[in-house]
Amino acid sequence: MVASSVVPASSFEFVADDSGLANGLSVAVMAGAGQGSVHLEVALSRLAPGGTIDGHRHFYEESFYLLSGEVLIDIDGHRHHLRPNDYGVVLAAVPHAWHNVGDEPAEWFRMRSPQPRSTGASMGTYPTDEVVVPEDGSFIGDPNPTVRHVGHFAENHLPQPGPLAMRGYRGPNVDSVALWMLVDDLIGALHHTMFIVQFIPGASTHPGGDHFHPFEEAYYFLTGSAIAHLDGGDLEVNAGDLVFAGTNAMHGYTMTSDTPVRWIEVQAPGPTPAGAFIFPADWEPVDG
Ligand SMILES: [Fe+2]
Repeated sequence: MVASSVVPASSFEFVADDSGLANGLSVAVMAGAGQGSVHLEVALSRLAPGGTIDGHRHFYEESFYLLSGEVLIDIDGHRHHLRPNDYGVVLAAVPHAWHNVGDEPAEWFRMRSPQPRSTGASMGTYPTDEVVVPEDGSFIGDPNPTVRHVGHFAENHLPQPGPLAMRGYRGPNVDSVALWMLVDDLIGALHHTMFIVQFIPGASTHPGGDHFHPFEEAYYFLTGSAIAHLDGGDLEVNAGDLVFAGTNAMHGYTMTSDTPVRWIEVQAPGPTPAGAFIFPADWEPVDG
């Protein structure tokens, strides 16, 4: 059975981190080995006010997108003060540490690839004193040409809705979409991508834009609602839910909300430069 599923927000279970590195951290894994993934782990991380994550590094890459709260991160000596819609990537082996200096819990979307060998925090995570828990940091957007691995997503980054144009596919099969790349190989991520997707109300990729591919995808819905057309049937998705599409899992969407549908999307491994998306409808003319 091909792995694809809607993981509703009501099923997310925050579990206290037991790595020994963190204070006040809990994590809800939304997709990973348990959903049939072999390349990624997608989770929500929640750090309590005053909470910390000591210096550590991983064998995997880790992208993050801050959903709420304020938090400091030190990435290899670069200290940043993150606010909602700030994002970044920690490349493999790069030391980093976190600190929630706000009054409320900080919550961020987290993507890891290659997939850790366990959904716990310990596998693939190694403590280091090369960085320490930060006490201050620069806001994203402050002029600093040495900053490469963090950024801020703003509404006006989205282009006009139109046909899909991204690494691996350009063409009309998916229309009425706006896409803004956050993390890919241009900033050093070799195993995964992370980007924002927004569809206009009423848009649909179904059925001609339904497709599958050799890489895995996950979609964390930020706004709006849609029907996900998956191998297992048509399922409702609302803001806060996650959809996982494994290798060769057919997927497409019909937007059902009056407002735009926006999600954070991740892919692992990253798509090949062309020919990465397979649309069965394209192959009907050559079928017999
Ligand atoms: Fe896809």
